[in-house]
Amino acid sequence: MKILSVVGARPNFMKVAPFIHEIQRHNLNHDTSVDHILVHTGQHYDPLMSDIFFERLGIPRPDHNLNIGSGGHGVQLGQTMIAFDELLEKVRPDWVVVIGDVNATLSCSVIAKRHHIRVCHIESGLRSFDKKMPEEINRMVTDSISDLLLTPDTISSENLRSEGKPEKSISFVGNIMIDTLIRNVAEARLLDANKIIKNNRFSEGVGNDFELSEGSFGLMTMHRPSNVDDLEVLNSIVDTLEQKICPKLPIILPLHPRTEKQLKAFGIWERFKSIEGLILLKPIGYLELLKLNTIARLFLSDSGGIQEECTYLGTPCITLRDSTERPITLKEHGGASVLVGNDMGLLETYFEEFLTQERQPQRPMHWDGKTAVRCLEAIFEYDQIEEG
Ligand code: UD1
Repeated sequence: MKILSVVGARPNFMKVAPFIHEIQRHNLNHDTSVDHILVHTGQHYDPLMSDIFFERLGIPRPDHNLNIGSGGHGVQLGQTMIAFDELLEKVRPDWVVVIGDVNATLSCSVIAKRHHIRVCHIESGLRSFDKKMPEEINRMVTDSISDLLLTPDTISSENLRSEGKPEKSISFVGNIMIDTLIRNVAEARLLDANKIIKNNRFSEGVGNDFELSEGSFGLMTMHRPSNVDDLEVLNSIVDTLEQKICPKLPIILPLHPRTEKQLKAFGIWERFKSIEGLILLKPIGYLELLKLNTIARLFLSDSGGIQEECTYLGTPCITLRDSTERPITLKEHGGASVLVGNDMGLLETYFEEFLTQERQPQRPMHWDGKTAVRCLEAIFEYDQIEEG
């Protein structure tokens, strides 16, 4: 059997790693081996956004890089389709596996189906019900044409059922990113948090000299268009950090290139980088962020994956979004996260509350480190049913 997996952007890398490792394990233990091909669309191309994840997570070098790079959504989606179409003319896999909700997920699933190749979507069924998010469109289109829909939680399976997806196409496998967390957390804990800060300072003189200890700081990541593409919104977040958050708790913020670009474009970069108590870092590696997350007092973020990692680790998480495609991470479902959108008053209220809150780790069903095993089994089973 030949399986081609696609990655494009940072959040894909920690999800493909366990899947590839499971294929390698399978090949060592079985007579029938799986021929695996890895394709990187090149949406994320900076070494700090891409290469360091391949190295640290033991992901083999991609067999093909489509080198798409940055650009508007039309450019990214279109160029990925053209390049992937050309590739599929030459490489004929039995399955194309797409992951998550980035532009690569949509482009490559559509083209694979045009080539009559079976598509498996890992992390299927998540819905924010907000079609203004590019990721929601990516998820909906991909799920509408994929043959095999592998879901991270039971809420996602129910979403697919309520959309009328056939039962034989849905398989609840669990959260594959948590496989990566479980595999790496012990090694991450051994890292020296102060060295992480010193080695990844954004630039000389940015931030204060600061000695980290457990619970003495908060973490933050932010890159979504809803937070960084509107001057008024971005300004209000910067004001809140400056006046309400950083004076009470130092915040460590590894900066996404998109956010840096927007802060500079809006002319608020100088003010932002001189906020007292805000420690700016370059984008940091997987293990480094995981280490900091294990000892942070709280997390402020607009990322989906961070909500999941915080749920597993129990880090109180304030999510700067109006909706989430991952409701299982919300407090009302037993998770660690609350949604505050762009409501800075609400953010401040939860910040005060979370300052004294203990960690409450949660383990939703199948967030057990064995999701990749179930993913590969589901692919084999699907083939058996279809061909048997
Ligand atoms: C993408 C994903 C988003 C995911 C995020 C994680 C889509 C629709 N969005 O958003 O779901 O949460 O990745 O990072 O696929 N840039 C660089 N170097 C890079 C990559 C990007 O400088 O290696 C800059 C460019 O200025 C680019 C901007 O970041 O224009 C945005 O990058 P893009 O890949 O378009 O989307 P993300 O915001 O990263």
